[in-house]
Amino acid sequence: MDKLVIQGGQPLKGEVRISGAKNAALPILCSALLTSEPLTLTNVPDLNDIQTMLRLLEQMGVKVAQSGDTVTLDASGLNNPTAPYEMVKTMRAAVLVLGPLVARCGEAHVSLPGGCAIGARPVDQHIKGLQSMGAEVKVEHGYVNAKVGRLKGARLFTDMVTVTGTENLMMAACLADGETVIENAAREPEVVDLAQCLSAMGARISGAGTDVIRIQGVERLHGATHRIMPDRIETGTYLCAAAITGGEIRLTGTSMGYLDSVVDKLMDAGCEISGEKSPQFEAITLRAPKKLTAVSIRTAPYPAFPTDMQAQFMTINTVAEGTAVIRETIFENRFMHAVELQRLGADIQIDGNTAFVRGVAQLEGATVMATDLRASAGLVLAGLVAEGETTIERIYHLDRGYEHLEQKLSQLGAIVRRVRA
Ligand code: UD1
Repeated sequence: MDKLVIQGGQPLKGEVRISGAKNAALPILCSALLTSEPLTLTNVPDLNDIQTMLRLLEQMGVKVAQSGDTVTLDASGLNNPTAPYEMVKTMRAAVLVLGPLVARCGEAHVSLPGGCAIGARPVDQHIKGLQSMGAEVKVEHGYVNAKVGRLKGARLFTDMVTVTGTENLMMAACLADGETVIENAAREPEVVDLAQCLSAMGARISGAGTDVIRIQGVERLHGATHRIMPDRIETGTYLCAAAITGGEIRLTGTSMGYLDSVVDKLMDAGCEISGEKSPQFEAITLRAPKKLTAVSIRTAPYPAFPTDMQAQFMTINTVAEGTAVIRETIFENRFMHAVELQRLGADIQIDGNTAFVRGVAQLEGATVMATDLRASAGLVLAGLVAEGETTIERIYHLDRGYEHLEQKLSQLGAIVRRVRA
C-alpha cells in the first residue's frame, strides 16, 4: 500500500486550482441512469471513488466515455440493475444507484453497504422513502431488492437529515407518477447541484437547498450537459493547510459561497480571507496569522459546520493557542484521527462525541495510519506542520477523495512524496 512522506515546516505559498466536487459528481453520475439519452458532465474529478462508480455503472450496461475532466454516460443499454457487494463495500455512495434504478427499470438489487470505519451508516431512510412511493422493498442475503411498476409521488419525511438519502429519493421521484414532497431534506450544495443537473435533464424540481423539496414526476428525462460544482471540502482542506503552516495561498475555480461556516471559523482562528468573484471566475485567498487561536466547532447538517472538515479543524487546534472543544453530531465514530494525532504529540482528550484539544508548541513527525478519507486529510495537515518527517500509511483513503494531492501540495511548496508499495 502506498505511503505519503512529508517533511514538515514549509509554509504553503502560491496558487492551486480546486477540483470538481466528489460528493456532487457521485450522485450526478448516477442520474445518468434515469435517461436513455447521453449525459455529459464536465469538471469531473479524477478520483478512485469516481472510477469505482463508473465501473459500477458500466457493469449495469451504461456506456462511459472519458476525456480529461469530461465524462459522457449513455444508459440506453441499461440491462443489469444490480450493484454487487464487491463494489458497494469499497464505496458507500454506490447506494445512490438505488433510486434511479427503481425509477427507470422498476427493479434494483443493491448490496447493503455494511459497516464502515466512521460508524454504522444504515440506509433505512432510503428504503422507507421508496416504500412510501409504492416500491416493494426486501432486504435479503445482504441485498436491498426493490420492485415496482411505476413509483407514485408521495409525501416523504426522513427521520434525520441524510444527504445521499435526499439525493436518492429526489432522483427516484423525477420519474414517479405525480408529486413527491421530501421534508427534512438535506440542504447541502451538492443536493442543489444534483437538482440543477436533473432540471437540465427535464425534471421538475423546486425547493432544492431548503428542507422541503418538491418534485413533479415526468414520464421521461432527456440528455443534458452539466458542470460539476467545485469541491468545498477540498477547498476547506487547502485553506486549513495554508492556515496551519503559516502560509498564504490563493485557490481558484472555487467559491466562498459554499463554505461560510468554515471561513468563519478560520477567521476566528486569526486568518485573513477574501474572495474574488466575477461571472467567469472565482477565487479565495487566505493569509495565516503567526499563531492560530483555538476554535471550537460543532458539526451539523449544512449550512452548519461540515463533519467532513472536523478532522482538519482538530489538527489546526493541536497547534493553536488555547483549548478547543470539538463536538461531532453526525457520525458516531469519527475521532479515529485523534489517536494518530496523539502519536505526533497532540494533547487531545476524548469523551464520547466530544474532543478537548489543547494546543501544543510543536507536533513531532512520526508514522501514522490513515483510517478514513477526511481523517487522512487531518493527518496530512499535521505532517505539514510537524517537526521532521511524518509517514502516513494506507493513503488509498486519500486517493478516494483528493485529486492529485501530492502534486497540488508540492505546487504550494510542501515537501511531500509518495512511496509506492
Ligand atoms: C454524505 C457525504 C459524506 C458526509 C455526510 C454527512 C456523499 C457521497 N457523502 O454521506 O461525505 O460526511 O453526507 O455530511 O455525499 N443515516 C441513517 N439512515 C439512513 C441514512 C443516514 O441512520 O438511511 C444516518 C447516518 O448513519 C449518519 C447520518 O444519518 O449518522 C447522516 O448520514 P448521511 O447524510 O446519510 O451521510 P451520507 O449521505 O452517507
